[in-house]
Amino acid sequence: MTLHYVESGSGPAVVLLHAFPLDSLLWSAQRKALGAAGYAAITPDLPGFGGSPLLPAQPGLDGFADEVVHLLDHLTVTQAAVAGLSMGGYVALNLLRRYPERVAALALVDTKVSADPPAASANRLEMADRLDSGWPSQELARAMLPGLLGETTRSNNPDLVGQVTRWIAAQDRRAVSYAQRAMAARLDSGELLAAYQGPVLVIRGVEDTLSTPADAAAMIGGDPAGPRELAEIPLSGHLSAVENPAAVTEALLAWLGEHAPKAQ
Ligand code: MLT
Repeated sequence: MTLHYVESGSGPAVVLLHAFPLDSLLWSAQRKALGAAGYAAITPDLPGFGGSPLLPAQPGLDGFADEVVHLLDHLTVTQAAVAGLSMGGYVALNLLRRYPERVAALALVDTKVSADPPAASANRLEMADRLDSGWPSQELARAMLPGLLGETTRSNNPDLVGQVTRWIAAQDRRAVSYAQRAMAARLDSGELLAAYQGPVLVIRGVEDTLSTPADAAAMIGGDPAGPRELAEIPLSGHLSAVENPAAVTEALLAWLGEHAPKAQ
């Protein structure tokens, strides 16, 4: 399979991996801005989401990371800076675990390195069962929005609330269920990230309740092997890339400029 993707610009490759249960439209603003700034900004739809086909295999994040690597092969990209928002961050960490030679730098956005505690993975499996038995995506959107969008967005930006609702409702329920099962089974990546020697940028919306300040601190680490930076995004919850796109773009561009400089 080749994942459906959109690419803007040319230069050092930057892969932007989207959150759950959404698709690559989440990163449109950053893709365009990075493309205009001299990067090849690549936004894939993870398997089953957006325009990408579902994976036939047993649910697992390995399959998602494998397909991202197939896409890099298809694009003849040997190494890329990888940015992942929430579920996209889990996929980025899986890439680092299994294909470290492909990861030039890591931006971890509104995400975490920990595995699910038992109650959280049980909730995911329960939601997956509900989706498999026909729970409508509209209901899913209603259930998820309060966690995905910050207080400021929910109070002041009804257009974005509507947009995100439509994006969720447009996803294939089978993909959403698959991803829940895959995330429920993910490994803890704390030691993996602590040992990583490359540059790490942690981005967090200050109103994010799903990825907490403690999650961000765990990714920065006490004595990290490589250089780490934290960018806090004001007026934003979990979906910082769309809640405050300019601030996320600025943080990515400043970091990439230092760690993935463009060819002169
Ligand atoms: C996401 O935004 O991708 C989800 O919040 C990830 C998760 O459910 O852990």
